[in-house]
Amino acid sequence: MDVDDVAGRLGVPAEEVDRVHRLAGDRPSAPLPDRADAPALLARLAVRPDDAAEILAGWPEPGSPLSTPELRWLLDRSIALVRADLGGHAWLPPGPALPRERGPAWRHLYTYAYLALVDVVRAYHSDHGVPDDVSWATLADLGNNLAVDRRMNGEGWPVMQCWLTLHARGGLYELGRLQHQRGDAEAIDLHIPDAGPLTSEAVDASLDRARAFFPRHFPGERYTAFSCGSWLLDPQLREYLPEDSNIVRFQRRFTLEPYQEQPGLDGDVEVLRFVFRTLDTPLDRLPRRTVLQRAVIDHLRAGRHWQWHRGRFPM
Ligand SMILES: CC(C)(COP(=O)(O)OP(=O)(O)OC[C@H]1O[C@@H](n2cnc3c(N)ncnc32)[C@H](O)[C@@H]1OP(=O)(O)O)[C@@H](O)C(=O)NCCC(=O)NCCS
Repeated sequence: MDVDDVAGRLGVPAEEVDRVHRLAGDRPSAPLPDRADAPALLARLAVRPDDAAEILAGWPEPGSPLSTPELRWLLDRSIALVRADLGGHAWLPPGPALPRERGPAWRHLYTYAYLALVDVVRAYHSDHGVPDDVSWATLADLGNNLAVDRRMNGEGWPVMQCWLTLHARGGLYELGRLQHQRGDAEAIDLHIPDAGPLTSEAVDASLDRARAFFPRHFPGERYTAFSCGSWLLDPQLREYLPEDSNIVRFQRRFTLEPYQEQPGLDGDVEVLRFVFRTLDTPLDRLPRRTVLQRAVIDHLRAGRHWQWHRGRFPM
């Protein structure tokens, strides 16, 4: 295979194709589910009807003219790359960000990879005794991400295509209100899905579930703390939000690490991503419906910046 040629046809940098080629090597891939079974699987993964229709339209069936040899190669090797790290819990790009406007086969290539890995990760969950309801609730984050991707006109997908490899490798579990990512530094990293208010009661219940879940299902790993990295932990939010708001109450649980700019993470971009679901709308065209939206806009207009903070608290 000629890396430059494939990269040219895919419209992506050659280094990124080379990375897939090296990491996947000749490791095993996994087959896609039958197209006939796909609608039921997509419904189980909380994929909304409009996204499901698009996924089915671009389905890479043998002989389909939509799925070129380069796309087939990338799909097969991306599945192998992610599968090779089954059980891993670090950030893992599954391949290059594609020119998704070329059509559904391009738009959903990493969705197909995710679907192919469902059986693989379900077997991993089963080996760890993870209950079915946790397994499916975790994997159903696919549908939420696709829905957000639609709201964001595709702007969020380069991050989401990496994010979803955590679910597909057994690196992350949804336990009630929060998602819990296994980690190296004796800490479970917390993530907050876009799923209604972040009440203290729901957070407490989710933390309690994690305290029981990880010793039971991952007894070889020792966790002593919960950690989180988020725009939600920016102390500047307290200048604007009431003390009894869910975000401020969530912040109070954490001891923050000294602030450090994280390479590749811009606090302003992350706040726009999660508060407005757009990265490129001018400030004067953003909605001012909630106290947080007004705060974000006024803060940026004043020439100030938002920060991505990391914090932790004992388990
Ligand atoms: C985290 C989250 C659930 C908190 O929402 P919440 O429980 O309503 O938070 P609060 O009680 O602190 O809200 C205080 C105010 O900010 C508003 N607000 C909170 N999150 C908001 C958001 N993402 N977008 C717009 N407004 C928001 C609330 O509506 C409220 O304003 P109001 O009194 O004018 O209605 C919410 O921000 C969310 O869904 N975020 C997306 C996911 C995310 O950011 N995850 C972390 C990624 S690192």
